[in-house]
Amino acid sequence: MTQLSYSDFYQVPNLKFDISKLRKDLDKILKDKSFSAPGKISNFGAISINRIPNDEESIKGHNQRGIYWTIPDEKGKEVTRDIMIDESKYTQIVPEFENTYFNEVYSILKKKFKLGRVRLLLKEPRSTLSWHKDPEPRLHIPIITNLGCSMVIENVAKHLPADGHVTITNNTKYHNFFNGGEQSRIHLVACVLENPFK
Ligand SMILES: [Fe+2]
Repeated sequence: MTQLSYSDFYQVPNLKFDISKLRKDLDKILKDKSFSAPGKISNFGAISINRIPNDEESIKGHNQRGIYWTIPDEKGKEVTRDIMIDESKYTQIVPEFENTYFNEVYSILKKKFKLGRVRLLLKEPRSTLSWHKDPEPRLHIPIITNLGCSMVIENVAKHLPADGHVTITNNTKYHNFFNGGEQSRIHLVACVLENPFK
């Protein structure tokens, strides 16, 4: 039997955030803001934590999602979806997050990693993303999850518990995320501009 390798999931050592503070401030944020998605995208929602300085448009519509590649049907042909994003311009915390624990988390992460967009991403119950790949790896801090949630990269699936740990996933390979539970999943997800998997 072939041994499974989790080398596309990198748990950052010596870094753990306070999950109860994340949940408390997530509740605070959700009183004023709600998850949104561009166009008719179903089962997906985003709330941006950072933006291009003083640019409200940079966190609207398709800027909440960004370019990816997918194989939509039996022809097996790869196609490009959505728009290219200049990730390195996303350097300013969105004002509503300023006085929250997310600001502290963002500052710590920024010191350790070269980051692009940082978002809260919602995955609705009993839903999956497309089978796709992204331009860069992604950093995940699960905030609300359940045992029916897993990320799948190529043929390897992994549940990421909401325990304050940070995992960088190799999204430059084909992957998806499914939530097989009956509760929404919410992760903090950041684009990582220096690829640790190369
Ligand atoms: Fe992705």
